[in-house]
Amino acid sequence: MNLRVDIITPFPPLVEAVVETSILGRAAAKEVVTYHVHNLFEYTDPPHHKIDDEPYGGGVGMIMKPEPVFRAFDTIRETAEEDWTPRVIFPTPDGQPFTQAEAKELATHEHLIFICGHYKGIDQRVRDHLVTDEYSIGDYVVTGGELPALLILDAVVRLQEGVLTTSESAESDSFSAELLDGPHYTRPREYRGMTVPDILLSGHHGEISDWRQERRRDQTRNRRPDLWKKLMKTEQQMLEQKNG
Ligand code: ADE
Repeated sequence: MNLRVDIITPFPPLVEAVVETSILGRAAAKEVVTYHVHNLFEYTDPPHHKIDDEPYGGGVGMIMKPEPVFRAFDTIRETAEEDWTPRVIFPTPDGQPFTQAEAKELATHEHLIFICGHYKGIDQRVRDHLVTDEYSIGDYVVTGGELPALLILDAVVRLQEGVLTTSESAESDSFSAELLDGPHYTRPREYRGMTVPDILLSGHHGEISDWRQERRRDQTRNRRPDLWKKLMKTEQQMLEQKNG
């Protein structure tokens, strides 16, 4: 399956630089993903080519105008199939939290469209009539929707078949089993007096695997009490089911 991704942004160079680099770029080279970056300014009206305007009802900050976004969307629709059902993603701090579960779900779709917001907000009609999903990347505010959109995109693209090599495999990632990832070491065995845990050099695969699992559990317990609590509950339920 080829994933088509359209990104509507007033800052195409920022987006292009990222999608052309590293694993996102490699996914396009392998034709697993096709990126289309749309410059929002190309859909504005002369002579001022404005993408924003003052808010109705007053208040501080500028609001992104609806027309350029709707026109960019129309252009994408013209090149799509009759029965297309894209997911239209608007990254916003007031969106639903974006997690690995959302990444997995989005990864099953064939067409994703990202609308990158700026300024105080975007005209609500875009959100009501075009957008299907609104996601927040965390409880903080960044200056535009590009970085959040690229984060979401990266999380989705790396899950597509054929993107990661076996050595980069997503299977032991943080969150892949409701646990954070643990520590990793590579050569040299000793560096500036800092050593690698003996167990990793022991060659006992079973013990190494147990040790890694314990480190993942430690990491999760210490850093993410919220995830740990959830895991404890699930494990308790599984135990109760097993014991009838
Ligand atoms: N735009 C600005 N801040 C954001 C956030 N935290 N998540 C998603 N989009 C944003």
